[in-house]
Amino acid sequence: MKRELWATRIGLILAMAGNAIGLGNFLRFPVQAAENGGGAFMIPYIIAFLIIGIPLMWIEWAIGRYGGSKGHGTTPAIFYLLWRNRFAKVIGVFGLWIPLVVIIYYIYIESWTLGFAIKFLLNLVPQASPEVEDPETYLRPFKEFLTEYKGSGDEFLRPSLYAYFVFLLTMAINVAILIRGVSRGIEAFAKVAMPTLFILAVVLVVRVFLLETPRGSAIEGLNFLWTPDLSKLTDPGVWIAASGQIFFTLSLGFGAIITYASYIRKDQDVTLSGLTASTLNETAEVILGGSLAIPAAVAFFGVANAVAIAQAGAFDLGFISLPAIFVNMPAGNFLGFMWFFLLFFAGLTSSIALMQPLIAFFEDEFGLSRKNAVLMTAGIVFFSAHLVIFLSGSLDEMDFWAGTIGVVFFGLLEIILFLWIFGGERAWEEINRGGIIRIPRVYYYVMRYVTPVFLTALLVTWAREYIPKILAETHWTVWVTRFFLIGLFLFLTLLVFIAEKKKAKEVEG
Ligand code: PHE
Repeated sequence: MKRELWATRIGLILAMAGNAIGLGNFLRFPVQAAENGGGAFMIPYIIAFLIIGIPLMWIEWAIGRYGGSKGHGTTPAIFYLLWRNRFAKVIGVFGLWIPLVVIIYYIYIESWTLGFAIKFLLNLVPQASPEVEDPETYLRPFKEFLTEYKGSGDEFLRPSLYAYFVFLLTMAINVAILIRGVSRGIEAFAKVAMPTLFILAVVLVVRVFLLETPRGSAIEGLNFLWTPDLSKLTDPGVWIAASGQIFFTLSLGFGAIITYASYIRKDQDVTLSGLTASTLNETAEVILGGSLAIPAAVAFFGVANAVAIAQAGAFDLGFISLPAIFVNMPAGNFLGFMWFFLLFFAGLTSSIALMQPLIAFFEDEFGLSRKNAVLMTAGIVFFSAHLVIFLSGSLDEMDFWAGTIGVVFFGLLEIILFLWIFGGERAWEEINRGGIIRIPRVYYYVMRYVTPVFLTALLVTWAREYIPKILAETHWTVWVTRFFLIGLFLFLTLLVFIAEKKKAKEVEG
């Protein structure tokens, strides 16, 4: 079967930028930056971008293009091309498992953004409270608004019926795009969504910059983020957080960039295009993402309170504090709508990228039609998402294993496979082949030595800190989630080997 290709270079770059630019840029980045001391976070962050982000981006584009030229878009088969050993296929299963696990919760959070956007548009939101002096009182109605929406509880969550309905709608929207395929679906949508997203973000940034209260200003928020603080550089926690953010925001270590790259024409450039897509993501992250939630919270509540809000929970800054600030402004509900709609578009261009690996796997390895591959994938995601929707703690657990640790581990394996087993010079030529720019040679050494050593150090530090905590966990909901995740991995491994048998039979027959 002939595989699809991206129709245009600009379309490819926008699709890749859409893949990377997501909730990570506008929700996760500000929280990570605020939690880790603002200016103290940005130095490790920039270093991680240079020694992890850029090299891995080129590696994933090259691996993907190479696999695509041989008819494969997912890592079980591609890793086997790089290393003719059955073990390579098992390692490759992670490149299906990670995006699958992440999409299970990502798409649910994405659905909240749509749910909130609709509520703000229809003015079905809490009123601005006059108690601006005390953040806790001021934010309370919005905190309750979020809790009512998604439900709360120690064991089971009881989301609102509305939340469940919007989740179904979000699934349907994703399917509608994906079913049209790579160039007519994903690429065509990215061409509309990306410009829209930038315009929305710029308008909101301008509005936030005009915000000034007796308690602070947006500029103070920027100072908090951009004044370097060298004192925290010796804290490994900050390095782990910054590197984790680089992986997440650039979609690296997920298998998702590899799958998108598999639809690049065999001799088309990856060096300049990969760099361009990375740069677009970083612009959206540090310029736009960095100029919204934090500066607004600092202007409205002051630095100390803004940090406290970020630390209160992953969703407090974006789902509670920012909308609460907006409703205090003229046309506030509409600003709230724009904010959540921006998040929804950012999320949507990413969630389709998280689904595509499994879809490509069903198409390439099982010969399913696109329609069936999409429906099969959506069915698995829909079924699994119920765990996240109804079981307390499940979301965080999945985010930890797949979205935090898993990606670093998988990124390291990619480097070893490509630059060591496949071969350093061979990999280097493969990356530069057809390139509009030639990558400076120093990056050869970065990819081969610096990045893997750095990632290994991160993993060791991480393991030391977390393994005792992981084993000490007693809450049953967490263990249910863990067994589910193991089950999912075994299921995918089984599929990989069934596909292999099936292909062997076809060759015989
Ligand atoms: N990079 C996306 C974000 O910042 C998340 C993502 C990861 C999307 C992997 C696709 C694949 O939100």
